[in-house]
Amino acid sequence: MIPLVDVHCHLLAGLDDGPATRQAALEMCRMAYAEGVRWIAATAHQNDHYPDNSPERIRSASRMLADDLRREGLALTVVPSAEIVVRTDICEAWQRRELLSVTDRDRYLLVELPHGLFVEIGFLVRQLRHVGVQVILAHPERHETLLHTPGLIEDLIAEGCLVQASSDSITRPRSKADQRALKHWARRGIIHLLGSDGHNATTRPPRMAAAYEQLATWAGMAYADRVCSSHSLAVLQGVPVRVKPPANNRSWFAWWQTAWSRR
Ligand SMILES: [Fe+2]
Repeated sequence: MIPLVDVHCHLLAGLDDGPATRQAALEMCRMAYAEGVRWIAATAHQNDHYPDNSPERIRSASRMLADDLRREGLALTVVPSAEIVVRTDICEAWQRRELLSVTDRDRYLLVELPHGLFVEIGFLVRQLRHVGVQVILAHPERHETLLHTPGLIEDLIAEGCLVQASSDSITRPRSKADQRALKHWARRGIIHLLGSDGHNATTRPPRMAAAYEQLATWAGMAYADRVCSSHSLAVLQGVPVRVKPPANNRSWFAWWQTAWSRR
């Protein structure tokens, strides 16, 4: 299997609802390494629940984790990142340097929607694009509206969003309908990146391998390689990711989805 790259994993001890201790973080890293992961964006929440998570605090915690990995002799590269809950002043907050970009390279911002709430963010994506930052939308598949309403995710991609699905959603979908929709997203190239969104070694582990296999089964190994490795590595290195527009939606499944949503 190609070396895997996890673009979204909560690994920074004590910073959020991820690992509580540095030992727990190392245990997650060992688990990720055994899965075949070689690069991870060590991600911390930046939202109202964690007001102390400044960019400098996250950078410092990431450096500490990298030191721990060196001492352990684990050949895993970790880079600092943040998962930012969307807010109306996100562009201003970015310009005030209050938000941390993926890998701290000022090119990509990992943004999540408020829990359980779909809000229109196209104008914010445009604002950020105008100041040189591309939005990576974290796990949009968790929002039923986005997953099951034809056209919504396509509109966000057209605005410049990259789509990061979570491995858990691929391997343990909430329902058969979600599984069908995700499979359709994969076959149309709508999923651009995969992240484990790991938080600990037990209930939310940093698993990637099974989701890679599932994506390969659904849409081919070349696609799984892009989503789980080459696209993600480009993001971590702060270089452009070239993605194709979603493939044509005129399938029986799309027709059925549209017809069902109009009932
Ligand atoms: Fe997360």
